[in-house]
Amino acid sequence: MVEGQVYPVSDEWKKRAKVDAEGYEQLHGRSIADPGSFWLEQARRLDWIKRPEIAGDWSFDEDDFHIQWFADGKLNVSANCIDRHLKTRGDATAIIWEPDDPNEQAKSFTYRDLHREVCRFANVLKREGVTKGDRVTIYMPMIPEAAFALLACARIGAIHSVVFAGFSPEAIAGRITDCDSAFLITADEGRRAGRTVPLKANVDKAAAQARALKKVIVVRATGGDVAMTEGRDIWYDEAVRDVADDCPAEPMGAEDPLFILYTSGSTGKPKGVLHTSGGYLLWASFTHELAFDYRPGEIFWCAADIGWITGHSYIVYGPLANGATTLMYEGVPNWPDASRIWQVVDKHRVNTLYTAPTALRALMAEGDEPVKATSRASLRLLGTVGEPINPEAWRWYHHVVGEDRCPIIDTWWQTETGGHMIAPLPGAHALKPGCATKPMPGIDPQIVDADGNVLTGEAQGNLVIARSWPGQMRTVWNDQERFFQTYFATYPGKYFTSDGCRRDANGDYWITGRVDDVINVSGHRMGTAEIESALVLHESVAEAAVVGRPHDVKGQAIYAYVTLNSGVESSEELRDTLIKWVRSEIGPFAAPEAIQFAPALPKTRSGKIMRRILRKIAEGDTSSLGDTSTLADPAVVDHLIDNRIS
Ligand code: WTA
Repeated sequence: MVEGQVYPVSDEWKKRAKVDAEGYEQLHGRSIADPGSFWLEQARRLDWIKRPEIAGDWSFDEDDFHIQWFADGKLNVSANCIDRHLKTRGDATAIIWEPDDPNEQAKSFTYRDLHREVCRFANVLKREGVTKGDRVTIYMPMIPEAAFALLACARIGAIHSVVFAGFSPEAIAGRITDCDSAFLITADEGRRAGRTVPLKANVDKAAAQARALKKVIVVRATGGDVAMTEGRDIWYDEAVRDVADDCPAEPMGAEDPLFILYTSGSTGKPKGVLHTSGGYLLWASFTHELAFDYRPGEIFWCAADIGWITGHSYIVYGPLANGATTLMYEGVPNWPDASRIWQVVDKHRVNTLYTAPTALRALMAEGDEPVKATSRASLRLLGTVGEPINPEAWRWYHHVVGEDRCPIIDTWWQTETGGHMIAPLPGAHALKPGCATKPMPGIDPQIVDADGNVLTGEAQGNLVIARSWPGQMRTVWNDQERFFQTYFATYPGKYFTSDGCRRDANGDYWITGRVDDVINVSGHRMGTAEIESALVLHESVAEAAVVGRPHDVKGQAIYAYVTLNSGVESSEELRDTLIKWVRSEIGPFAAPEAIQFAPALPKTRSGKIMRRILRKIAEGDTSSLGDTSTLADPAVVDHLIDNRIS
């Protein structure tokens, strides 16, 4: 890392930003010294049916473990994202939708349009029997109806569980079953880079395994031919014809669940991360305004998918709570050509672009010409999220894309945190390529060593958060014990992020990446255990160990070691079969880049797989395997090195 390089706040940004360096110190200082009054004051940014009088009420200690925010408050999230803007900006654009195919018409929806669409969607859900507290699975392409569906659930108090449209039928079924979801919203097909994705067909396969599922609502997106099951499936466009344009917003307790979002951890089974209404919305709205210095009238584009937390918080909830114009893009950054993302910026005069390092690396590989062919004059701020950004990509983003004019806001956060946790504020903090910089107000990060000792000053270790914040997840769906064990047992009294971190002499935070068995492939978070579980389900596989290895564009790539059952011969064909198998068990993005057949895996005498060694071999760094004295059979390692796939 080039640590010497610092980009101070420009004079222009010093003048225009809502929060300058001094303002940040005050905000952060007060949020820590007097969180109660700080957060009750911040709560005024939302429209409450009953204004809360209590802010945080929490303890991370095992014998009194609980987390609540604004528990006596009542509100409705969809009314906060829509209704309250009607008087002041009913005719302002809420959502701009840009289709996959540049020759197709873009669409836009004012806040008044959004109100009607969401109310009508909510009325369809109600008529199909969805009531407060029911779980509704959403498996949708990036079309406006996906946003309407989320907000319609919020309007009637149903809990949405969005499953990313790249997941396989197996994965959908598992998620439906885990939260016992009787309802599912999907589309006939999705579109991506000129191809269609058979969403409804995937749902049909999932439904065969997920007995909880009773109703499927199908949005007609491409008009493709799909099978409909009588009594279970209904077309949305037919159902919506005769419903009313208005639907009252259900008063919800601040701690009533808003959504579940499944995410990978270090065990095989994805966790249902639960977020609640008041604290989550406050956090999404607060961080969206602060980190991006958002002002009304600006066009905000978060180029993520609604299937991930980034889409939840920064395509839908944060921007709409702030009355913003949010852009939703159906396609991918580099289709039909490497210029597309910048063409979309010009077409809709985007002011803030928020994307992932993996997309930047892929675009960077195409050279500067596709960028320079566009104007990008509307851009004023650039954001990044999802993985550590390498300084080279950071500088390209800053210099080539932003023409040295736009601050780069590198936001570190997680599905579990609801919104940004560590990020520079554009008017307050000098930027350093690859550095997430400073904690948001309310966030109290600490760096600890393996024994839990808090390290001060310049330090490197594991990142923990020492106190609760409004956007914190509240539980793992149906598994409070797993919630506690995963996040609060390692360092008692603290939330453990599972990320490594370094604090420099200036007090700035640099995220160094996961310290558990979670890998990040093209911004998709995946548990290696999940891929291993999928592999060993195959009849030929006895054992599997999966590690990540560095990849120029994807950040990390999946490298799998597979031991076959005795009597099964390894072959290229079997390799292909296993790759296809993982695609169908989890989804295309989980397919291993390399599968190495291994007669045995390196284990300790107590039978634990030594992943550290497997990682080193996959990386090709075999000169420094570290301590191998605990290996049960050192010869295993030599075989692995000799047969490594480069
Ligand atoms: C990683 C995505 C470095 C980190 C919002 C975290 C980052 C995991 C950054 C969460 C960043 C996210 N710099 N690392 N700016 N942003 N990460 O749940 O390892 O999909 O724990 O949430 O992504 O991934 P998730």
